[in-house]
Amino acid sequence: MTNTRQTSEALTAPSVSRNRDPILAVLRRALPPSGTVLEVASGTGEHAIHFASALPHLAWQPTDRDEQALRSIAAHRAAAGLPNLLAPLALDASAAEWPIKRADAIVAINMVHISPWRATEGLMAGAGQMLPIGGVLYLYGAYKESGVHTAPSNEAFDLDLKQRNPEWGIRDLEAVAGLARDHGLELIERIPMPANNLSLVFRRA
Ligand SMILES: C[S@@+](CC[C@H](N)C(=O)[O-])C[C@H]1O[C@@H](n2cnc3c(N)ncnc32)[C@H](O)[C@@H]1O
Repeated sequence: MTNTRQTSEALTAPSVSRNRDPILAVLRRALPPSGTVLEVASGTGEHAIHFASALPHLAWQPTDRDEQALRSIAAHRAAAGLPNLLAPLALDASAAEWPIKRADAIVAINMVHISPWRATEGLMAGAGQMLPIGGVLYLYGAYKESGVHTAPSNEAFDLDLKQRNPEWGIRDLEAVAGLARDHGLELIERIPMPANNLSLVFRRA
């Protein structure tokens, strides 16, 4: 994980307090009225706490592939005591097998550009397999559009990401949408968010 602070096992990422409410406003209308939401790449677990608390009609399943993240999610979950927040599961989006076979919606925040492309390939394959017809995949993050950065700050961020890991980087929206389409997921909404980020809502056709 990047830019996190630690208090015992429970990590905090400063970006979460800035983006969680704008994201929640989109999730409130994009997610189904009931069922289980699989969060891929939950990171510190702070989003999971915020969304499970605000959306008590949904069961929230946090996951990550990183052990430290899983411990952080568990620590936040223990402190929050939310009945609809499930215990975190180890899930590597790029793995062929996922530990959960069915979800009514999938959410992945700030993963696509901060992981190798194969993680996005796995995410789309998994979403295509496990979502019901009409089920929603929600992505949040920075994207290029028509091969062009949407802001100088995103271009600088992209360079920084690639220096940290050559397999990371801001992706083309068209490439992500094309990959989604290959797995039966249609991009139905593109919502501009603060700080030059986008919310992308895909629906299983
Ligand atoms: C920048 S953090 C974002 C965390 C959180 N969603 C947020 O917005 O604060 C990226 C997260 O992606 C996770 N990640 C990276 N590759 C992954 C993969 N292949 N499968 C699942 N999670 C992955 C990392 O462990 C990390 O927690």
